[in-house]
Amino acid sequence: MKGVILAGGNGTRLMPLTHVTNKSLLPIYDRPMIYYPLELMAEAGIEEVMIVTGGNTCGDMMRVLNDGSQFGLRNLYFTVQEKAGGISQALSLAESFASGRELFVMLGDNLIFGHNVADTVRNFAAQPVGAKVFLQPVPDPERFGIAALAEDRILSIEEKPSQPKSNLAVTGLYLYDRSVFDKIRTLKPSARGELEVTDLNRSYLDEGQLGFEMLSGEWIDAGTFDSMLEASQMAKRHADLRQTFNSNSLAVAA
Ligand code: G1P
Repeated sequence: MKGVILAGGNGTRLMPLTHVTNKSLLPIYDRPMIYYPLELMAEAGIEEVMIVTGGNTCGDMMRVLNDGSQFGLRNLYFTVQEKAGGISQALSLAESFASGRELFVMLGDNLIFGHNVADTVRNFAAQPVGAKVFLQPVPDPERFGIAALAEDRILSIEEKPSQPKSNLAVTGLYLYDRSVFDKIRTLKPSARGELEVTDLNRSYLDEGQLGFEMLSGEWIDAGTFDSMLEASQMAKRHADLRQTFNSNSLAVAA
């Protein structure tokens, strides 16, 4: 299993901050945004990660992340999405890196806390058929890819629907088998001219191959000013909780 973090795009919703650097390098509490997905991948046992970056700030990304050893990764690779062509187009750039292995893909602005994905990632790696998405209820479903369920399966999935069929957001964490690049090749650009991740997930759904898991912790897409602020507060809350837990464990051990 290899990891891909998608951190391209122009970050137009975060201008003028994104004049300064790539969206995924902006601060969330005490570290750059992209640290969170990278740390999560490392915790899930992923050793090789490719970052798909873009814009005129790719150099910043390499300077901050170096060779990835500070996250415990064996190898960190970079590639460049020349212009914003959508999440699926960005992922297609990782084909030779993947070299037939299954992938754990994350969006560089997605943060999750309090949900351990390691077992799910390991189980998928042991039987890599189809794809898996992670769902979480949200108050503003018009902002996300939205899945409608019938008991234990996904019925439909729509990108930013004006009349959402549910409040279950498809978060920016995805597990894909090796057929993902063949599926991307069949996609057509959406109305906004992009190869959408929702269309990719739908091609798995059409084959009856799209599984899901509900996220139990907290999740946030930090792509707007308000959600960036909320993400920082969330990150601080969880860092404080960890610190309290660690000092209590030390006190018990002493
Ligand atoms: C993207 C995806 C959307 C997904 C969201 C999660 O939207 O297109 O399906 O729900 O990420 O963060 P974006 O934030 O790029 O508009």
